[in-house]
Parts: sequence; C-alpha cells; structure tokens
Amino acid sequence: MTYHAIAIDGPAASGKSTLARALAERLGIVMVNSGAMYRAVTWKILAEKIDPQNTAAVFNLLDRMEIVCGHDGIVSTIRIDGIDPSGHLRDADINANVSYVSAIPAVREKLVALQRDYLKHTHVVMEGRDIGSVVFPETPFKIYIDADPSLRSSRRSDTGEVDSVEKRDAADSTRDTAPLMVAKGAAILDTSHHSIESGINAAIEILRKQGFPLPQTAKPGLAGEPAKPMRWIYWTGWMLFGSAYRSLFGLRIIGEENLITSGPVLVASNHQSFLDPPLIGNLYKSEMVFLARKTLFKGSFFKWLYPQWNAIPVDQDRPDMTSLKTIIRKLKEGHRVLVFPEGARTLDGSIGAAASGIGLIASKSGVPIQPIRISGADKALARGSGKIRFARITVSVGKPIVLSESELKNTTGKDGYEALTKRIMDAIKAL
Ligand code: DC
Repeated sequence: MTYHAIAIDGPAASGKSTLARALAERLGIVMVNSGAMYRAVTWKILAEKIDPQNTAAVFNLLDRMEIVCGHDGIVSTIRIDGIDPSGHLRDADINANVSYVSAIPAVREKLVALQRDYLKHTHVVMEGRDIGSVVFPETPFKIYIDADPSLRSSRRSDTGEVDSVEKRDAADSTRDTAPLMVAKGAAILDTSHHSIESGINAAIEILRKQGFPLPQTAKPGLAGEPAKPMRWIYWTGWMLFGSAYRSLFGLRIIGEENLITSGPVLVASNHQSFLDPPLIGNLYKSEMVFLARKTLFKGSFFKWLYPQWNAIPVDQDRPDMTSLKTIIRKLKEGHRVLVFPEGARTLDGSIGAAASGIGLIASKSGVPIQPIRISGADKALARGSGKIRFARITVSVGKPIVLSESELKNTTGKDGYEALTKRIMDAIKAL
C-alpha cells in the first residue's frame, strides 16, 4: 500500500497548522505538525538546562533522548522520555530558542527520520519548513503557504503569544541545513486575503489540480474521486441497485461529508436486510469489498457473479479465522471493506449484540473505521419475507474512528477486541 504525503510549508503564523488540520479532517488522514517536534526537543533541552546554542551538548543529549511519535485520532503526538510536553510548546522561551535548535543538523536528521516513519502506515498532511524540499521531496502534493508579514505578527500577538515572527523567519530561511524555501513543484497560496474557509477551499482546489485522490465530499461540487474506475460488471450492479434505492425507497443519506472515499476503510454497519450491502456500496463511487454467506454462492451463475461484485465467502454469519485473515489482508492491501459486526440481520430493526470479530479486524488492520447506521431497510425487505415494501431508507454516516498508535498497541487479546467492538457499536448506535 502506498501512502500519500501532503507537504505544507511556509513561514511562522502563515496559517499552516489551521489549514493542515482542516485538510486532515476533511480527508480523514493524519495531520503532523513537524514544528511541534522541533519545539518538543527544544523543551527537553531547556528542561535539562542545556544551552541550545551549545551544539556539542545538544548532540550529546539527543543521543540519550527517547522520542516517540504517534497520533491520537488525526492529530500527531510526541513524547520525550515518556513525557508529553504539549502544554509547554508555545512558551516564550521555546519560541525564542527553537530556531537555534532546528538549525542543528543532528536534530534535523533525527526528526526527519521520525517524520518519514509516519508514511509507512498512514496518509499524512505534514506542515513545517522543509516538508516538500527535504522530508518528502518526491510527493506531488505540495503547498507553500504565505501571508503578509504584519498580518502574521498580529496573528501571533492576538493569541497572547510572545514570538518574534520576523526574527524566526529570518533564522529559518537563512540557515545552512534545510532552510525554509518554496519546494520544487509547490503551489503558492497566500492566505492574507482568505478567510479560513476560503483558504481551505483554495488548498483543496490546488490538491485537486496536483492530482490528489480527493474524497467525493472534500468540497461540494469538486467531486473528483479519481480512484480506479469501476469494472462494468460492478458498475452494472451499482447503478441498478442505486436507481432502485432512490426510486423505491427515497434513499436519504445523512452525514455524507464524513465518508472516507480513498484509501483503506473498515466500514462497520448495522444489518437489517439483504438490501444492505449494495446500499452501502452505493455510497461510494469506487469499488469495495463485501462479505457474503458461503451458502449464497450456489449455482454456477452466483458462484461467478458474487466474486465479480467483490464478495468474499464467509462461514455462516460469523466470519471464521480464514475469512478474518482475508478481510485483514484486503484492508492492508488498501481496499474498503464492509463488515456487519452483528453478523446476522436484525429481526425487529433494533441493533443486536456484536461478536468481537470487528474489534480484531480493526486492531490488526489499523485502518480508519467508518461507522454507518441503516434504518428502514428492515421495513423495505424484512428478514424472512420475500416482499419488497415502499419504506423510506435512511443511511447515516458517522465520523471516522481513527485509532492512535498507542490505542492500537493496547488493543490486544479478547478484552481489547471486545472494548473496541463496543466503541464501534456505540458509534453506530449514536447515529
Ligand atoms: O511551525 P512552528 O512555528 O511551530 O515551528 C517552530 C520552529 O521549528 C520554526 O521556527 C522552525 C522549526 N521548524 C523547522 O525547522 N522545520 C520544520 N519542518 C518545522 C519547524
């Protein structure tokens, strides 16, 4: 699986963090604030009473420092020797010294390696000074954010921070190692005359032009989900079911903006009727993987058709070990997979108990989880009835659950999988 990096560079207080965070939220990917990493190391140096300009002493301390980077949901985290320094990162003494520390090549080498590590397991939008030039020079998705210097200074003082933005910019732009610059291929976005919302839209427009696989809802009207086009056989089912849902059941979708439409996603939905898999498949404009009871694969036609629609046969309604492994593999390969945690369809429309399989799949694959609630499908085609009724079907899409690395690490064993399953089911029930 190849992960994408969006590089956002620019001077201090240009609006990088706000923009990177908004992009991460809209795209459902992790936002990494690389400046926070340089600030965290500066905090440690000052906490150890070391002079940040004493390169040899810094080098020595760096060697002994354990830096652990991760993410909590979509936001990056950092701990140094087990301590989370985030409460101190904007202190005046850190603002005053971070440019000295970030000019030390050994510091940069260590942090750049940690920044690149993120891309081994997730898509990232990373902001800093050298992301497009040094950290991810190969990425085609680069934006250089700028804003009027006086505006940037006032943005900082508005937050009550003591920060000499101009001094820091001068130091960051003139240092020998990885100075602030417009990276090759970066689009320049001046946020001086943009509101936050219009700045985000302008950035999304830039990413679209750079070919980033945007979710269909990244911006209304921008639609562009340049994932692989559907094969005709999948498209035929998708289109037929989709038109039927809209005309027969007045399909209503709530929370469409929450859909993650690129990259691997574990879609977890309640299960009401046989209508559910194509119903969920219809939310997305590219193919996804489904599970279907082995017994449905009977007769040569269905044996041929179901795999065409990406259905994986599972034993009974509860996936067995082989199916679990197949699902995890599919997710790791980058597919979007639909799982009904309850296994069987509901008898009365209510949401039943879930086996811990979904927790295990979510934990082992580490991909974002998209909770979805279907209602009305049990009336449209009740379990045990072959009759279609004109009932209204509503699908509610929840905000993705993105597990941090520490959450993933701690989700092991039966208890861990059960707790995660409960979290997923609670998210579905809350919709
Ligand atoms: O983005 P920020 O203002 O929080 O960054 C703090 C300092 O860290 C900045 O003055 C320069 C340095 N920095 C860097 O050298 N390279 C990066 N990729 C990010 C930040």
